[in-house]
Amino acid sequence: MTPGIPGFTPRFPGVTLERLQAWLPTIITAVLAVVAALVLLAVMSRLLHRLAPRVHWYVVGFPLMRIRMRLSWRHLCLNADLTGTDRPTTGQLGPLVVKGRPIMPVLPLLTRIRPRTFGATAVILLHPGQIPEPFVNAAEAMSHAWRVHAVRVDPRQRGRVRLTILTADPLTTNHRDDPADWATGPTPASAAGTPHSGREAAIEEAASTAPTVVTGAGTTAVPGDLAANVGHREDGRPWVIDLVTFPHWLITGATQSGKSTLINAAVARWATRPIALVGIDCKGGMELAPHAPRLSALATDRAEAADVLAQLVTETQQRMRLCRQHGARNIWQLPPALRPVPVIVVVDELAELYLVASRADKDEALRATTNLLRLAQLGAALGVHLVVAGQRVGSDLGPGVTALRAQLAGRICLRVNDEETVDMTLGDLYPDAVEAAQQIDPAAKGIAVTTASEAGWIRARSVYLPPETLDTVINATAHLAPRLSGLTPPNP
Ligand SMILES: Nc1ncnc2c1ncn2[C@@H]1O[C@H](COP(=O)(O)OP(=O)(O)OP(=O)(O)O)[C@@H](O)[C@H]1O
Ligand SMILES: [Mg+2]
Repeated sequence: MTPGIPGFTPRFPGVTLERLQAWLPTIITAVLAVVAALVLLAVMSRLLHRLAPRVHWYVVGFPLMRIRMRLSWRHLCLNADLTGTDRPTTGQLGPLVVKGRPIMPVLPLLTRIRPRTFGATAVILLHPGQIPEPFVNAAEAMSHAWRVHAVRVDPRQRGRVRLTILTADPLTTNHRDDPADWATGPTPASAAGTPHSGREAAIEEAASTAPTVVTGAGTTAVPGDLAANVGHREDGRPWVIDLVTFPHWLITGATQSGKSTLINAAVARWATRPIALVGIDCKGGMELAPHAPRLSALATDRAEAADVLAQLVTETQQRMRLCRQHGARNIWQLPPALRPVPVIVVVDELAELYLVASRADKDEALRATTNLLRLAQLGAALGVHLVVAGQRVGSDLGPGVTALRAQLAGRICLRVNDEETVDMTLGDLYPDAVEAAQQIDPAAKGIAVTTASEAGWIRARSVYLPPETLDTVINATAHLAPRLSGLTPPNP
């Protein structure tokens, strides 16, 4: 028997000092090998992250986040009050009925965690009796627990909530599109005769086309023409302003937040289609001046705006009679030969229409804003659409502004300075989007919270179109500007 150390009783009788001394080199080599392997893995992971971030996400990042999600799920549910129970929440204590939180909570099931290029998606299955609201409120807690940029909670499906997990803010990179994308491209929806299928892919494709060699005057518009691809959403999909899904849009944003840049991108798309564009720019026509050659009418002060809007109301009433004669409920049900051209009215700086300084101003403002409201109420089915932009939209502009807002179902909120404007833009339809809009970074221009048909709301960033690219598109499409009865195109 091998002698041990005097006074020392070994815990493992087989392990003696001599044996330990004999194993030491092997143990040291094994430890060094493990450390070296870990260092190598870390270096390779960093290298992969730098060279191929997407591959790194699928191979390393996502599996690690999935483990983190699984490990933290119980704590998260307990702390953020997301648990349910399969026991009664009331009981009898003597003559009293007591109510409380069960001490044996049941966790909702976190399932279908799938990697995506922008992060991941997952589904939470709710227990009977659970409502989605606490999950929407816990989005911030989830993003902290899983160490990701943001978690969006979509509660619209019954019995479940869908999670969109974003690992980084995809909107912080500047999207300056290749000018070629705006100068040439495949045939737009009208030329291809794409019917309105309602399928998003078709809309996205139609929305992205912007050839300078366009369909030529006289081509009949199809609903796909009303979709304009204006940028990128945070889920990696194109940001499409679609006037068929949402006929009228409200865009708010502080000065220099990117309203005109966004309007430029949309107008550059619509300019190539058989669509009439009308500008209302009461800042003296400065903002919409670059679009003038392609506009069918441009109002540069409130008196002109009132006249243009009154004429458009008359146009709408004529369209209404036409639809009635042919038993059509909207212009798209009319035979193509009879179908009037869609009209998009772009209003830059809404407040200029509402604010009054004198009695004379008051009558003029009332005429302009009443006609604007009538267009919003009547125009949707008759192919007259509004895109209304303003720095501040608040109740101080008058009661008419709330009535107008109710008609503008599409909302875009860029960075704004006051809480009331955020509330007016998003609060009535998407209360949970208000906070996201308040957090828009002033340094990153063109970022907005926008209505998204299938997701409720989403963050997005418009493309920046250099002035020369916009000029190219506008000049190449100027001959397409349709004549509208009673309206004169702006002087070149
Ligand atoms: N999506 C974007 N990407 C990069 N830069 C942008 C973007 N949007 C706006 N910008 C920058 O911000 C500047 C101001 O934008 P823009 O003129 O559109 O603001 P605005 O909201 O119309 O301001 P105002 O209310 O004063 O008219 C632009 O000149 C451009 O440099
Ligand atoms: Mg502007």
